[in-house]
Amino acid sequence: MASNRNLLVLPGDGIGPEVMNEVRKIISWMGKKRAIGFDIKEDLVGGASLDKHDTPLTDAAMKNALDADAVLFGSVGGPKWDTADFSKKPERGLLRLRKEMDLFANLRPAKVFDALVDASSLKPEIVKGLDIMIIRELTSGVYFGEPRGRQTNAQGEVEAFDTQRYTVGEIRRVCAVAFELARKRKNKVLSSEKANVMHTGVLWREEATKLHKEKYSDVKLEHMYADALAMQLLRQPKEFDVIVTDNLFGDILSDEASMLTGSLGLLPSASLGAPDATGRRKALYEPIHGSAPDIAGKGLANPIAQTLSYAMMLRYSFDLGKDADMVELAVENVLKAGYRTGDLMVGNTQGTKKVGTQEMGDAIVKELDRLA
Ligand code: NAD
Ligand code: IPM
Ligand code: MN
Repeated sequence: MASNRNLLVLPGDGIGPEVMNEVRKIISWMGKKRAIGFDIKEDLVGGASLDKHDTPLTDAAMKNALDADAVLFGSVGGPKWDTADFSKKPERGLLRLRKEMDLFANLRPAKVFDALVDASSLKPEIVKGLDIMIIRELTSGVYFGEPRGRQTNAQGEVEAFDTQRYTVGEIRRVCAVAFELARKRKNKVLSSEKANVMHTGVLWREEATKLHKEKYSDVKLEHMYADALAMQLLRQPKEFDVIVTDNLFGDILSDEASMLTGSLGLLPSASLGAPDATGRRKALYEPIHGSAPDIAGKGLANPIAQTLSYAMMLRYSFDLGKDADMVELAVENVLKAGYRTGDLMVGNTQGTKKVGTQEMGDAIVKELDRLA
């Protein structure tokens, strides 16, 4: 079906291709039942690309990503490539995509489904109804700061170094995304850094405060050191609405937040660039989990994070909010009906049914059929 929607699919490594296959079922369902078609290209990334092309991302794949309206990404990496040269590690493919597409705002929502309240490692009353949005800066900080590398120092000892670096502009643009989003939610932003020990933290806090005063004083703004936030996220997570933080803290805190919801296998994300003159943004959608080498190839992976990443794509790149709602509702209902992949078989599992990746994907499609 011809459409104006150009989508690049990058399944990647490990469980990436497995969970992507389940999303393909939903894509084809949407095409048939709701006339939502995509012009789909597919390419290799990560270890899969390294094996074939000796690089974790070819220039051709990079160009396809830049030309697409949206990229749907699986996951990269795995022990097979542990010994690969640093510049060729599978993860470099993903980092190149983020950098060259300038995807500076990574939205990582963590929502607790009622049906999974018991799957969280925290008490039900702490997590029931939880709905937070972590906004992680994604194209700067210690992930990209120069200088970085390894050298033998004057004492003859080998040392390695990375640089945490932020410009005023980089801080302001990601904080602006947080304030804008908060206005559509509970109107609260928590900005997090370590201004007590890091220069970048001091600058981050100053700029968040200035921007707030200039343009967003209607939004409630608070600041918290990242270590304290790690603690408060477990103590009283429902206190938070939108959290904005740097690249590394955001990586760590979002994995932590996933455990409030029950599993890493549930959390989607959207990585967005700045809107161009026509209002369109470059965008890449990916689960926050990795390639899960421990369960890859066994049909055990939870496809929900990938499915919800697809729903975020419908919402943020194609203005198909109603269809995104429908996919999210289908996921919620399937969980309500008791379907659980292995990662969700924790806590009280009474009345649940353990299923594999494909059965979970099929159950979601069946539920979409029922909802339609
Ligand atoms: P991981 O997220 O792959 O796995 C952590 C744990 O969570 C594992 O026990 C895994 O089985 C489980 N898990 C993750 N996703 C799951 C799912 N959908 N269903 C059920 N269980 C799930 O993290 P890791 O083990 O630290 O990293 C493995 C590889 O993935 C590394 O090479 C790492 O660099 C890479 N990684 C890639 C991405 C990405 O591509 N965006 C993200 C994180 C890690
Ligand atoms: C993530 C991952 C990546 C990161 C890796 C695979 C580069 O952990 O998306 O959370 O550290 O950003
Ligand atoms: Mn991570």
